[in-house]
Amino acid sequence: MRKNIVAGNWKMNTTVPEGVELAKAVNEAVVAQELKCDVILGVPFTHLTAVKQVIDINKVGLAAENCADHNSGAYTGEVSAPMVASTGANYVILGHSERRGYYNETNEMLKTKVDLALEAGLKVIFCCGESLEEREAGKVEEVIKAEISESLFHLSNEQWANIVIAYEPIWAIGTGKTATSDQAQEVHAFIRNLVAEKYGKQLAEDTTILYGGSCKPSNAQELFAKPDIDGGLIGGASLKANDFMGIVTAF
Ligand code: PGA
Repeated sequence: MRKNIVAGNWKMNTTVPEGVELAKAVNEAVVAQELKCDVILGVPFTHLTAVKQVIDINKVGLAAENCADHNSGAYTGEVSAPMVASTGANYVILGHSERRGYYNETNEMLKTKVDLALEAGLKVIFCCGESLEEREAGKVEEVIKAEISESLFHLSNEQWANIVIAYEPIWAIGTGKTATSDQAQEVHAFIRNLVAEKYGKQLAEDTTILYGGSCKPSNAQELFAKPDIDGGLIGGASLKANDFMGIVTAF
């Protein structure tokens, strides 16, 4: 059975004390109720250890927002997958369009990061998505297929069980322009088919595919009602506990 997941992606926001307060508030709300989805907080590297201390890790997952493409060594400023795992985090977000765009992360580099993350025992939330120009040029499927197949399709069936896909159309991220639930469903179904062709129908059915891009309490329910949308990766709306919980409880 596939899992429903709502994951926050705080990006480069909050100081450590602010992040700890936010995590505490989310944790408190999560443990107080029976939820129909898993909840994960994606936080800056600097916050992982402190946030880990204030969440109930069995109820609230913890993700880094990136990891290095090496395990250790002379890479000043980088943070490796084993370092992330050593904080008690259980997930890492990889391939976010901001990392691809601003820091030139390629499909090939992400393939290495995925391998190192899995090796370190982390689950991967792997992001993919097209730009507005690519959508207008009719290249959505081509872009998504390249991103997913070039970074993930070398994995074994066993490894695949640790992959969550996040479809995030770049034109919808932080813009207030959400993809319509039909637009999102169409791409999610395409992704699930792609996975089925490679890993078979059962593994595809079991794969969690999240939508990301201006997801908020007011549109989450309609998005999550679609058959192939299994939750969300939430940026802006994850920075306020109430908004984030409004999305979590949309299931
Ligand atoms: P947003 O970001 O919810 O602020 O659009 C989503 C994301 O980038 O993961």
